[in-house]
Amino acid sequence: MLDPEQLLYVYELKGGVPPPFLDLEGLLGVWPEADYTYLFFTSPADATLKSFFRHHPEYSLTSHYRLPYGHWQQLAAQEPLVVDRFKIVTSKQSLKLSGSEILLWIDPGVIFGSGLHPTTRGCLRGLSILYSEATPATVLDLGTGTGILAIAAAKLGAQQVDAVDLNPMAITTAAANCERNGVKESVRLIRGDARDQLPEAELLCINIHFDFLESFFQSSAVCHYRWALVSGFLKEKLPEVRALLPSCAVVKEPVLEEKGWATLLLEIERERSDSSL
Ligand SMILES: C[S@@+](CC[C@H](N)C(=O)[O-])C[C@H]1O[C@@H](n2cnc3c(N)ncnc32)[C@H](O)[C@@H]1O
Repeated sequence: MLDPEQLLYVYELKGGVPPPFLDLEGLLGVWPEADYTYLFFTSPADATLKSFFRHHPEYSLTSHYRLPYGHWQQLAAQEPLVVDRFKIVTSKQSLKLSGSEILLWIDPGVIFGSGLHPTTRGCLRGLSILYSEATPATVLDLGTGTGILAIAAAKLGAQQVDAVDLNPMAITTAAANCERNGVKESVRLIRGDARDQLPEAELLCINIHFDFLESFFQSSAVCHYRWALVSGFLKEKLPEVRALLPSCAVVKEPVLEEKGWATLLLEIERERSDSSL
């Protein structure tokens, strides 16, 4: 956990969530939020960003803040967060859990995946629904962030989870969270681009921005899985996402929606996938 007194330098950019940000020097974490991206640094990054904007004129700085990490945490989460069967806390505390409740102890630092964002919550609800009907033993979590979905899947009964993220800080954060939750034996963390990291699994979870989903679905790679949970896009993009889905993918209704964001649970039909590959 970061020191609550540690100063964070937060830059708000308009223009989406582009992967090139991840190479910025001193970058601690990235939060995408609709059209905005919040970049976190532990020291001022004005010069780094100035150079970034020269190469990426499509992005602009809309605001910047300086605040202690402790304040960010208070803004970020009220505990425990409850999502369906999951109770999410950021520090160890004794909670009374009923028989079906599952504790997720997630220290997010400034990495995406605290349990607060509607896309994370949609995926957690989707996991809960799916595991009440089936028990996928192997899971691939693309864009794992804090590892929250990988950890939830492991706690629901997955025996092997592969979790991929581009951001090295996400991998470090997810590793610590897996350890905290006692699932480090069943979660394998992989630092890399999700476009190149597609180990076999029964269930695929993806919560990555729309641009990624667009190219992913064009490849029909989703047909290799049995189920897929997909989030990271606004409700208004739903028709576009449905149109992108290959014919193997059948949307389980109802679509999970929260605060203008949507999450899809897909069932992959083998026969259709064989003919579409
Ligand atoms: C919206 S967050 C989701 C985090 C977590 N899975 C959740 O549901 O809360 C997306 C994550 O995907 C990662 N990411 C973005 N593009 C990626 C790519 N091409 N390959 C791998 N990871 C990527 C980001 O670093 C970020 O941690």
